[in-house]
Amino acid sequence: MRNVLVTGAAGFIGSHLCDRLLRDGRQVMGVDNFDPFYSTDIKRRNLGWAMAHKNFAMIHEDILNEGEMCRVLADFRPDAVIHLAAKAGVRPSLTDPKGYMVANVAGTASMLEASRRAGVSHFLLASSSSVYGDSEYTPFKETHRTDSSVSPYAASKKACESLAHSFHHVYGMNTTCLRFFTVFGPRQRPDLAIARFTDLIAKDQPVPVFGDGSTSRDYTFVLDTVDGIVRAMERPKGYSIYNLGNSSPVSLSDMVAAIAEELGCTPRIVRMPDQAGDVRTTFADITAAVRDLGYRPATGFRDGIRRYVKWFRAAQFGVDTCNGDLPTSAVTVAVGSSQPSGRCMQAALD
Ligand SMILES: NC(=O)c1ccc[n+]([C@@H]2O[C@H](COP(=O)([O-])OP(=O)(O)OC[C@H]3O[C@@H](n4cnc5c(N)ncnc54)[C@H](O)[C@@H]3O)[C@@H](O)[C@H]2O)c1
Repeated sequence: MRNVLVTGAAGFIGSHLCDRLLRDGRQVMGVDNFDPFYSTDIKRRNLGWAMAHKNFAMIHEDILNEGEMCRVLADFRPDAVIHLAAKAGVRPSLTDPKGYMVANVAGTASMLEASRRAGVSHFLLASSSSVYGDSEYTPFKETHRTDSSVSPYAASKKACESLAHSFHHVYGMNTTCLRFFTVFGPRQRPDLAIARFTDLIAKDQPVPVFGDGSTSRDYTFVLDTVDGIVRAMERPKGYSIYNLGNSSPVSLSDMVAAIAEELGCTPRIVRMPDQAGDVRTTFADITAAVRDLGYRPATGFRDGIRRYVKWFRAAQFGVDTCNGDLPTSAVTVAVGSSQPSGRCMQAALD
């Protein structure tokens, strides 16, 4: 797989994936419409390292523009398309179900059709643990039922998987659906719990915790997810589905405690009622990915939080440490030119 096209390239997972593919020596084309769901400055910063790479090209375009996608793919002739672009996030989907269906389902149809026309041999789709719904059967296996969505976001991902299957069935295209489990790490989307809680705790602001803190998530470090994507890309196998999780759920309470400990702060927790659309737990059975892909998540939750907080501190000053540790001089310059916000942030930098 020499030429790889990545949609959602400016996002959290997409930018890490582009970095990894470039490091592996591939030609990478990124597509992203810089959706304003969160700051486009963050997305530009995510792509900072890739943009300077000679093997990287970026197309600022909406995947719903099928004609343009056909043209881009016909020119670039990718061996694989890794389709990550989507409206992500469960809670916002409750107030914008149609928007989620259009971006995620019609967007996937657009990319599948453009890929078919360009003769792409492998199409990989970012699916989600949310397709399992509020299942009581853990850990989640790929063979479990996925017909009880509890949010429009989950329903859209389930529909994307069905579309991918139909393109395999009708055209023989290799399609792989990768079910990600609460991905975290540097460049994390600001709407996700770890990012929000880190920011609030660092600023010594109240942390709204929904429910009694016992809900749990199978947090997966972003570089492990990316490694799983690359492994899957190299192994087209007709139609396949893989869980890419960590297989080690962490409770909400433990997650908050780990962040606070890493920041050296005491969180001010405010209890809130359960949130509609949320599930009690996510827990991946990764047997299939380990067996078929050699996937083995290497970063445990605690280590991942340590790395996230280190990145978070630097990012407050506009420095992205994802491609190597931050040089001391960069910290000095950044701190000298900005005012840390809140006493915990000051403590974190001391
Ligand atoms: N982060 C997680 O924990 C997680 C878990 C399960 C699944 N996923 C899936 O992984 C993928 C990437 O997630 P992420 O966390 O990196 O999200 P992200 O929002 O950071 O990245 C998605 C990118 O897609 C782009 N995009 C959205 N609509 C587009 C469109 N119509 N045309 C072109 N680009 C568009 C956005 O601008 C954004 O840069 C998504 O499909 C998401 O549903 C993520």
